[in-house]
Amino acid sequence: MMRTQVAIVGAGPAGLTLAQLLAVQGIDSVVIEARSRAYVEKRIRAGILEHNTRDVLIESGAGARLQREGLVHHGIELRFDNQAHRVAMSDYTGGRTVTVYGQTEVVKDLVNIRVAAGLPLYFDAKAVSITGADTDSPVVTFEHDGTITELHADFVIGADGFHGIGRQSIPADQISTIEKIYPFAWLGILADVPPSCDELIYANHPNGFAMHSMRSPSVSRLYLQVDPSDDVKNWSDARIWSELALRMHTPGWDLKTGPITDKSITPMRSFVASTLRYGRLFLAGDAAHIVPPTGAKGLNLAVADVTLLSDALTGFYRTGSEKGLEEYSETALRRVWRASHFSYWMTTLLHVDPNANEFDRALQRSNLAYVASSDAAKTSLSENYVGLAVIPKGKV
Ligand code: APR
Ligand code: PHB
Repeated sequence: MMRTQVAIVGAGPAGLTLAQLLAVQGIDSVVIEARSRAYVEKRIRAGILEHNTRDVLIESGAGARLQREGLVHHGIELRFDNQAHRVAMSDYTGGRTVTVYGQTEVVKDLVNIRVAAGLPLYFDAKAVSITGADTDSPVVTFEHDGTITELHADFVIGADGFHGIGRQSIPADQISTIEKIYPFAWLGILADVPPSCDELIYANHPNGFAMHSMRSPSVSRLYLQVDPSDDVKNWSDARIWSELALRMHTPGWDLKTGPITDKSITPMRSFVASTLRYGRLFLAGDAAHIVPPTGAKGLNLAVADVTLLSDALTGFYRTGSEKGLEEYSETALRRVWRASHFSYWMTTLLHVDPNANEFDRALQRSNLAYVASSDAAKTSLSENYVGLAVIPKGKV
């Protein structure tokens, strides 16, 4: 039997960032993670930090390496019809930027800080049940080294991703979910080659979407739209590079190639649960919502959720006020829906939908031309991309 103030299930960006924010406030937490430390620190995910996400990580004391190694970007490039169109995001957002820094690196930094501080973080520890969420002392039961342990807490946070136990522990009549599955997936690669661009490239091509991102001055991250039923075995390195070059082609631009070190296919979905609270159990990050990766909002939403939760829990422990806890779900979901729309919009703007008819394709072309030429459209793209600040009630 163990006891803490806040039991956090899942050591992804949501759980680890929350544990760090709570530690800064002097609130105890225990983090339970089903996977090994090596697995969690190797998982390759997206890599764009919104302006606010960067600030939160720095203010929490987890931003030292991010400030040294993160690549600050002021714009992105859209490509279609073999032409490039820059969107100068900082110009449209009063100087705001995004930082290219792998989610994997964020996770490594947060794990290091927690381990160095000697604060409780259990790997290879799978939560098997969450009980008593409708009482004042919920319990997470977890399995670690063949032993079953009961972790008693004031609050439980389900930060355990889409397939976790957190959302499943809410009675079915207390939660509803909304989902959209897209008819395409992303083949993502990591390659030991300097990026062929200074800013991220998002390209639309008749063969499908392609994008060029990066992790460092010597490592590139690139993606290709593929069919969800496709298999990485069908994609030799040579085929990947030639398809990337074809889909992103503009006159005079060359794509540098190099050894591919990671290859995977990820399906795309939008998913939103509500509400995100059941008694003393709160959901955050991918446990609560999924966005398609176009626009890279997943990590940023997770950090926004736990920033609200940290404020709400701090308010509770300082003053006994439950206001923040009561408002959490509604406040978090306003941002989630805004990001869901933006991610959907970026996705439909740039991908080739196999089910699209002539009308849909004509609208997409018109939309691409509009975004490339209108300051109003670029302002909208930019403010969503760098990330909206607090979204007040009634605004969205
Ligand atoms: N017990 C303990 N841990 C669990 C359990 C369980 N029963 N089930 C799942 N987990 C762990 C997973 O192993 C994973 O490490 O919860 C963690 C959830 O982490 P993420 O999936 O990274 O989710 P989150 O922290 O919400 O981060 C959201 O990650 O998936 C990306 O694109 C997404 O950027 C977004 C971000
Ligand atoms: C990434 O770097 O992995 C990345 C960047 C931007 C996106 C998605 C993924 O929109």
